[in-house]
Amino acid sequence: MKIKQIYKVLTVVIFSVITLEACQKLFPAAPAPDNTLAVGVIPGLTPAQLQEHALGDDEFSQIFTQQQGLGPVFNNISCNNCHVGNGKGSPATALTRFGRATGRTFDSLVSENGPDLLPNAVPGYTGDVLPPDANVQVQLIAPTIMGLGFIAALADSTILANAYPHDGVAGVPNYVNPTSFFIPQAFNIPFNGQYIGRFGRKATRVSLQDQVVFALANDLGGVTCDYNMVKPYNYLVGPYTGNYVQDPDVSAGFVNHLVMYLLTNKVPPRRDSANSDVLAGAQLFTNIGCVTCHIPTMVTSTLPGFPSLSNQTIHPFSDFLLHDMGSELDGGVPEGSAQSFQWRTAPLWGVGLSPNSQGGGLFLLHDGRATSFIQAIQFHNGEASARKAAFNALTSQQQQQIVAFLNSL
Ligand code: HEC
Ligand code: HEC
Repeated sequence: MKIKQIYKVLTVVIFSVITLEACQKLFPAAPAPDNTLAVGVIPGLTPAQLQEHALGDDEFSQIFTQQQGLGPVFNNISCNNCHVGNGKGSPATALTRFGRATGRTFDSLVSENGPDLLPNAVPGYTGDVLPPDANVQVQLIAPTIMGLGFIAALADSTILANAYPHDGVAGVPNYVNPTSFFIPQAFNIPFNGQYIGRFGRKATRVSLQDQVVFALANDLGGVTCDYNMVKPYNYLVGPYTGNYVQDPDVSAGFVNHLVMYLLTNKVPPRRDSANSDVLAGAQLFTNIGCVTCHIPTMVTSTLPGFPSLSNQTIHPFSDFLLHDMGSELDGGVPEGSAQSFQWRTAPLWGVGLSPNSQGGGLFLLHDGRATSFIQAIQFHNGEASARKAAFNALTSQQQQQIVAFLNSL
């Protein structure tokens, strides 16, 4: 990935001093700008921001060991192993979220190392097993981490503008209690003492800062930082005594670099957007009402220090709200005010690039159960039932045009 980036920079420099033709002779195999790549940085950053982005890029690919604070129980050894090349993960690296549901109450079993299973362990220690009193579990695959800065830069009011019943759907925000925050919020505005979440498959994380602190603790596993000094351990075995690194395992600077990296990754590039099938598919996607939830266009607010994230028109194809998707997609595990059958509308930007990071195939929806776009649509029930019916009423040629459109995103 890195090498390709460097190659691109070199190519730009070389192009600016010699002619295109001469350059092509010199480098016959020089690649055209690669729109299938999920890596790249937004424009307009200061040199200091670019440097932080580069440090965060390294950290994102860093392999964590026990000597770097990993564990004693953990999920994976690198952010990039799940969010492969910034793209989506696959069921092979899914994480398991569990808990105990009794009637209307839910316990994420924090005393037994909930909410996420950390099944691996450093040498000489034993990984977590699902506690016997857990009666629900859901698999989650990693979403893409491209374009997140633009999502961070959306005003709460922009998200709220599409909430509540309209056009036959009723998306709701995940209102998150600030007691669950690792880092106090500066940007978002509280509503009745609660904040609107926007990251994660149930929109549980309000900020990228919080998502990073949570990921260090639960997605990697056991990596402490100034904002969270809790070491998870296997509750059946007890605390681990061989901690190599004094807590915090990583510095506040380390967390900040990761946040900068996530904030400043470009949005996934579109491909084939002028193809006639793609254009027809985009029109059908609108006509049958997929756009009610997968909202094509939004405008960001002002994010101080980031002119190219501020006041930008973006095309995320999401409303960042939670929808009742029916019992088939009910994972049994609620989060905050998000119920077990509610999911955040998956942003569709970059969805056509999924096979690049999913081993050449497709794994769609929160747990990767759908292996084609048409199958993913067939799992759209609950609030999305009418749109699924409208899709199924199309001719197979029209359905393929929608697939062509999705592939172009
Ligand atoms: C075990 C696989 C795994 C690892 C390792 C992992 N993640 Fe994730 N990541 C996920 C999953 C699954 C989600 C969705 C979580 C949810 O819904 O709560 C996610 C969500 C995210 C999101 C929110 C994306 C969105 O669209 O809202 C960010 C940002 C993120 N991870 C960053 C990181 C960082 C930084 C690291 C390393 C410190 C990391 N992840 C390590 C699996 C992983
Ligand atoms: C009621 C809101 C709603 C409507 C209407 C809707 N979707 Fe979705 N869509 C969702 C949600 C929520 C998810 C995520 C479900 C999950 O993670 O399990 C999703 C996921 C998807 C995915 C999988 C994306 C991924 O990365 O895994 C595709 C593809 C998709 N929708 C296409 C469509 C199409 C095509 C239509 C119109 C026929 C449509 N959707 C209509 C809410 C909606």
